[in-house]
Amino acid sequence: MEIVKVHPALGAEIRGVDLTRPVDEATQKAISKAFDDNIVLVFRSQNLDEKTQLAAARMFGEVAVRVRPAGRDPGGDYDTPFMMVTNIIRPDGKPLGSFGDGEMWFHHDTSYYPEPHRATLLYSMKLPTWGGNTCFSNMYMAYDNIPRKLRDRLEGQKVLQIHDYLRRERLDLGKVDMTKVRHQEQPVFITHPRTGKKALYISRLMSARIVGWSKEESEDALAQLFDISEDPSIVYEHEWGLGDLVIWDNWCSIHARKDFPRDQERLMRRLTIVGQAMSF
Ligand code: OGA
Ligand code: MN
Repeated sequence: MEIVKVHPALGAEIRGVDLTRPVDEATQKAISKAFDDNIVLVFRSQNLDEKTQLAAARMFGEVAVRVRPAGRDPGGDYDTPFMMVTNIIRPDGKPLGSFGDGEMWFHHDTSYYPEPHRATLLYSMKLPTWGGNTCFSNMYMAYDNIPRKLRDRLEGQKVLQIHDYLRRERLDLGKVDMTKVRHQEQPVFITHPRTGKKALYISRLMSARIVGWSKEESEDALAQLFDISEDPSIVYEHEWGLGDLVIWDNWCSIHARKDFPRDQERLMRRLTIVGQAMSF
């Protein structure tokens, strides 16, 4: 097995591992360490069915079950832990999966849960001829890059994280019915449960308000934090190949999807790993 860094800030490719075969214990340990060290791992050109993708996921913990959102039908099947991330529409006119097409802003997965998922694994099955890259940003580095004065003001503060199924739009707190959206207050800075390092825990898509701050103060701080969190110098952009399995640490990174042609199909098979509550 070989670990090859793909970007100075985060991301490594794991070479020489065939995930269709059982992975021995020593290799699993090395992969687990590489994951803590690199935040995003890429396994290129794998040939995974559901069974082998599940086995790969289990190296990182317990696979999470899917929860059907109240009052909505984003499409797809809730009887398996798999979610299809796709713009494909079934013959009956219903979406085959979730997240549709086009761009998706930077976010953490399930930051609006009391116990955000530790990791997400995405396996590519169908790709457009261009676009649809996924960008990952290192939130340890984002934390380090916050100007001292702003960081001191934000220490110990909480942020309201909301999921309203938007993909490229900031949610307007004045208009949202909070009984209808999943939401959760979280530390602005978390301590990563495994590495013990501090990470910025906000994102442009889901962070609505610094709790207890005025709208103006909060918007001003968040605007700065969004820019810091999306600074190109801390972002790895993954250009997908067919059969790539990518896993990201969802506590210390945010991710975004770039635009791709509406008339072309993109299909990814996704699993998540159970997490825990975030603490300061
Ligand atoms: C996800 C996600 C991005 C992509 O599966 O959580 O954000 O590029 N996917 O499909
Ligand atoms: Mn996501």
